[in-house]
Amino acid sequence: MIEKVDKIWMDGELVNWDDAKVHVISHTLHYGLGVFEGIRCYKRENGQSVVFRLKEHVDRLLKSAHIAGIEVRWSASQVFKACLDTVRVNKLDECYMRPLVFLGAGDMGLFSVDNPVHLVIVVWRWGTYLGDEGLEKGIRAKVSSYTRPGINISMTKAKIVGHYVNSILAKREVINAGYQEAVILDSQGYVAEATGENVFMIKRGKLLTPPLGCSILNGITRDTIFELCSEMEIPCEERLISRDELYIADEVFLTGSAAEITPIREIDDRKIGDGNRGPITKQLQESFFQIVRGSDDNHMHWLAVV
Ligand SMILES: Cc1ncc(COP(=O)(O)O)c(C=O)c1O
Repeated sequence: MIEKVDKIWMDGELVNWDDAKVHVISHTLHYGLGVFEGIRCYKRENGQSVVFRLKEHVDRLLKSAHIAGIEVRWSASQVFKACLDTVRVNKLDECYMRPLVFLGAGDMGLFSVDNPVHLVIVVWRWGTYLGDEGLEKGIRAKVSSYTRPGINISMTKAKIVGHYVNSILAKREVINAGYQEAVILDSQGYVAEATGENVFMIKRGKLLTPPLGCSILNGITRDTIFELCSEMEIPCEERLISRDELYIADEVFLTGSAAEITPIREIDDRKIGDGNRGPITKQLQESFFQIVRGSDDNHMHWLAVV
């Protein structure tokens, strides 16, 4: 169970953890139409707490709501401030942050357009998502038997609550089979993403990742990788990737706000490269952690100081 904090931001007020309650007829609870974000706050070497790419996360939250046809009554700057206020009031130096927009109690049925729209922001302490060892040595992944819903089945550019049923089924399937994360293919059989991460592979010094036209979320960490590659002069290409291309890649890694940059050392029982974290993955990880936790001050525009 996650460690309880003091306050939760709920519709403009900071309420006690135990008082942040919803009614069982809340619409999102029944049908899954809601949108959310996952964001990390880090403590830097200088003691400052910073939220990584908060502006982009707030922007994606509101765009997800727009795609889902949900009208949010808070502006981007109000949500941005509310996120920082929630971290401050809970006195956490590092945490994970979960803004969630959901439809509350009112009508039932699918065509309920007048239900109240709520926004909550919950923060909690959360260590590495796929384990410290996973970050350093890489994880074992398996291609899931579940397919990513296609681009006109799910609105894949939105982080919609109900979409995650597919991810949960895939994750449970591979964990029950003894692996740590699922790689999910799209309806044509190309690599899409993982359950809550984008997928990158490296072949002969070049980074490859599926294009946005595929059924993938436009990851903010994915975008960060593009920026870092451009600074480090590592070539990067967005193109379709087949499952067996992953098997013979030199390196494969996942990116996500929760998983950060996690190497994959094995997929479907095939070793990737020499079966360890690869050198380019390591270089990108080091650069990322220097920005969020270290002393690289060249990317302060990505960091919102708490
Ligand atoms: C399905 C899915 N793909 C990719 C990602 C990675 O996105 P980001 O790097 O913005 O966290 C996430 C996480 O939000 C996700 O849920």
